[in-house]
Amino acid sequence: MTRGRRSRGWFITIEGPDGSGKTDQAARLRARARAAGIPFVLAREPGGTAAGERIRDILFGSGAVSAGLDRRTDALLFNASRAQLVAEVVEPGLADGALVVATRFADSTVAYQGHGSGLSVEDLRTIERFTTAGLRPDLTILLDLEPEIGLGRKAVDDHNKFETHFDLDFHRRVRAGYLAMATDEPERFAIVDANRPAGDVFGDVLRAIGRLPDGPDLGVAGSDSDSRSEPRAARSRIPG
Ligand code: TYD
Repeated sequence: MTRGRRSRGWFITIEGPDGSGKTDQAARLRARARAAGIPFVLAREPGGTAAGERIRDILFGSGAVSAGLDRRTDALLFNASRAQLVAEVVEPGLADGALVVATRFADSTVAYQGHGSGLSVEDLRTIERFTTAGLRPDLTILLDLEPEIGLGRKAVDDHNKFETHFDLDFHRRVRAGYLAMATDEPERFAIVDANRPAGDVFGDVLRAIGRLPDGPDLGVAGSDSDSRSEPRAARSRIPG
């Protein structure tokens, strides 16, 4: 029997360094949720709403605007995009009883603008509380990976400004920051070694979700963990 729906859904975030496979794992989760008849909502950061995509353009568009942003401006823009995502996508999904999966959320700002760029983590957590109105993930899956490996997985012309303008030490601080957060909140975080084939990583992702009290039943971990097939009529959100 699946627990396909509950009055308040589940909010799971996938975090990790660039190139750790967050998007791929989210797609696998979507396929699993659909197969199990669980309504699924994907929340993409930064962006994911019309306003958020405009903000994303300011953050990552080509040219001087993006390149010249102060780190505080970066932090506030990521939070502005997030506030809209919470209001438009995450909270309505949770109210509908869906499994809401966000690839990146507030921990990304703490990792990149805090540990990476040196802004106060305490200040960023204060801004987070305002941005999300206190919403926190039920589970955060940290896809852990050495930055050299993650950055090497992406084509150089696909690199965003954080990958292009920041050195390896920046990305090492980001990774260390994530690991410190996971140590601070072991009940919220699951650390998954992302330096393995995606199907193996997905097996661990399913196991982590399986340990959630009253979590969504996505099937036995690892049984067809490499399958990415989706029903032909699948939609991004399954009502009813
Ligand atoms: P994106 O191309 O979406 O990369 P990814 O697929 O790895 O998420 O770019 C997002 C970049 O923005 C990534 O380098 C991390 C950075 N970022 C921050 O610095 N702070 C944040 O709060 C968020 C959400 C992302």
